[in-house]
Amino acid sequence: MENRIRIAIDGPSGAGKSTIAKAIAKQLGIDYIDTGAMYRAVGYKVKNCGIDPEDTEAMRAMLQETEIDFSEGNIILDGQLINDKIRTEEISKMASRCSSRPEVREKLVQLQRSMGQRKSIVMDGRDIGNNVLPDAEYKFFMTASAEERAQRRYDELIEKGETAEYEQVLEDIKKRDHSDMTRELNPLRKAEDAVEVDTTGMSIEEVIAYIRKEIQQ
Ligand code: DC
Repeated sequence: MENRIRIAIDGPSGAGKSTIAKAIAKQLGIDYIDTGAMYRAVGYKVKNCGIDPEDTEAMRAMLQETEIDFSEGNIILDGQLINDKIRTEEISKMASRCSSRPEVREKLVQLQRSMGQRKSIVMDGRDIGNNVLPDAEYKFFMTASAEERAQRRYDELIEKGETAEYEQVLEDIKKRDHSDMTRELNPLRKAEDAVEVDTTGMSIEEVIAYIRKEIQQ
């Protein structure tokens, strides 16, 4: 299809992917797909149903009865808006566990590919440039030091009125990085043809300007 652009943004937790991806999509007037929110939706459902994520049969049965979609930037699980329910530390951990399950990745990757089939999109996650949309027109790999990512996450939690300890947040980020990078299936890895953007010390506006310049849009 002519003029279609698909922008893949990968990187570890807290690198600022979703803030940047959302802003770029808005500026370009195209859809934003937050694939992390999809893994979080599965984690949320697994927790609510009391399923063991390592129980393949139970997971398969649950996934068959699961619908995940986006509407105007909101994630919908089985017809229910769940935006404000999936950003807790508990769901982060459950999402990470679920994301290493083959049956979960199979279902979500298929969904993500079909979402990117016909229209221009910005999609962010861990395996977009390498696996979901290997032929995306633009690919970015966004990083920042673990300390800066922990600080951003800590500030976010405090702002939301939650209690948090910086050292604990940093430790959780390091643990999640490790499992995201070492899992067997589609681990977090920079695609060879992705442009690396280290956002440590950069403002949101600077990162957006950098990406807009790269894609010349
Ligand atoms: O980006 P996030 O923190 O919302 O992602 C939640 C979890 O899902 C995280 O542990 C990584 C995983 N994930 C993944 O495995 N593949 C993706 N494309 C996106 C997220």
